[in-house]
Amino acid sequence: MNKSDQNNSPIPGASSEGSMTFLILISAVAAIGGLLFGFDTAVISGANAYIKTQFQLSAFMEGFFVSSVLIGCAMGALVAGTLSDRFGRKKTMIVTAVLFTIGGLGQAIAPELVTMTIFRILCGMGIGMASMLSPMYIAEVSPPGIRGRLVSLQQLAIVSGILIAYLSNSLIAHTALVNALKWRWMLGAEVVPAVIYFILLFFVPESPRWLTQSGDSDQAFNILSRIAGDKVATNEMTEIKKSLKQEKGKFSELFRPGIRTALIVGVSLAILQQFVGINTVIYYAPIIFKKTGFGAASALGATVWVGAINFLFTLVAIWLIDKIGRKSLLVYGGIGMGVSLFMIGLLFKLQAFNGPWILIFILSYIASFAASFGPVVWVLISEIYPNKVRGRAASIATMSNWVSNFIVTLLFPVMLDGLGEPISFWIFCAWCVISLVFVIAVVPETKGKSLEEIEESWMGLQPEEV
Ligand code: BGC
Repeated sequence: MNKSDQNNSPIPGASSEGSMTFLILISAVAAIGGLLFGFDTAVISGANAYIKTQFQLSAFMEGFFVSSVLIGCAMGALVAGTLSDRFGRKKTMIVTAVLFTIGGLGQAIAPELVTMTIFRILCGMGIGMASMLSPMYIAEVSPPGIRGRLVSLQQLAIVSGILIAYLSNSLIAHTALVNALKWRWMLGAEVVPAVIYFILLFFVPESPRWLTQSGDSDQAFNILSRIAGDKVATNEMTEIKKSLKQEKGKFSELFRPGIRTALIVGVSLAILQQFVGINTVIYYAPIIFKKTGFGAASALGATVWVGAINFLFTLVAIWLIDKIGRKSLLVYGGIGMGVSLFMIGLLFKLQAFNGPWILIFILSYIASFAASFGPVVWVLISEIYPNKVRGRAASIATMSNWVSNFIVTLLFPVMLDGLGEPISFWIFCAWCVISLVFVIAVVPETKGKSLEEIEESWMGLQPEEV
């Protein structure tokens, strides 16, 4: 694509050539939603220990407080589709930025736990909405040829947010602030990216797809043309109009035989992505490290490693996903996670905390997840559904992901207390084995296939043949 922004089009604002830079910039702005998703879910790992001590939380209360954000996430994922269909993608993204800002500020200044939990749930609504909206917006502004790579920016943004949260937690932990203030700064730090997100959103255009749907085809054409040039925009407009005609499908269509199989695959993958236990490490990493003898500050330092490895191996996934395929990544990653979790459980059983082994296996677990179930599940959810029902089906899968995340996060401290570390980690290891069987038996390989080819294969009801 030509990088120029020349404006030779008869339509004001449109461009005959298109601009890749413009496309990347607006995708990057939308992906800040993913960054806040990552930051907001991970920041609690550092603040948690201080809050637990200050408010003397029981294991159940701790689990409830940490996971309360996820109640908001599930609610947000549920309403985001309807809101953004009604008011547009851009306005709904602006609402998420407001939720992140108010939620972050509220948590930082809340006088007690109940108020803090309410603001945490508000942040959660922002995260849940962003987890639906950012990839959807990017997909809707991208030309087909580079849509996959651009949508993957979302997972990169999520893990960047996680890494930034770990770094900012570690920095704040090392300041001279008293402990009662440290967690407030940790939770409040998100206000900075949230305000930046809010401001930048005013500069991105509305989704051309949504504009067409609401009858503003001229404006939609202008935006597409600015992104990809007049020729591509004309073709895209034809496709959008065609697909919009097909999208009159009813909710009940989700349960038609072929689509039902796709729905089950997406929802199961979304659930398994959480049941392999990723967020026990993402949210509770410093607590796990402390149990193995790390001091409070060095536990936060070790947690930064978790964020860095998560980031690096997401790049590996982006590099490999279109080469060796989704299914192979899930299989190799599943084996890596299973072996790592088994070893973490064993080291806890033997109390063998001398040397770097516990850190090594926690990092190999994160690396295996980051190169497989992390990005691949979101990519599959965005591509395995037929055009007609993609929005609603993806919304159900996203909701399932947040509800499963809530269950695991709520139960983890109780599991540690009741069952101990070895059995807890071995349970997650067992879920890896279940995931592997599921992936090998049921999940189709979609590498290199057009969305229409994938759609047709579901209609043939033979997932293995996809
Ligand atoms: C998951 C999150 C997780 C993150 C970790 C995402 O794909 O949906 O639950 O915290 O990856 O990198």
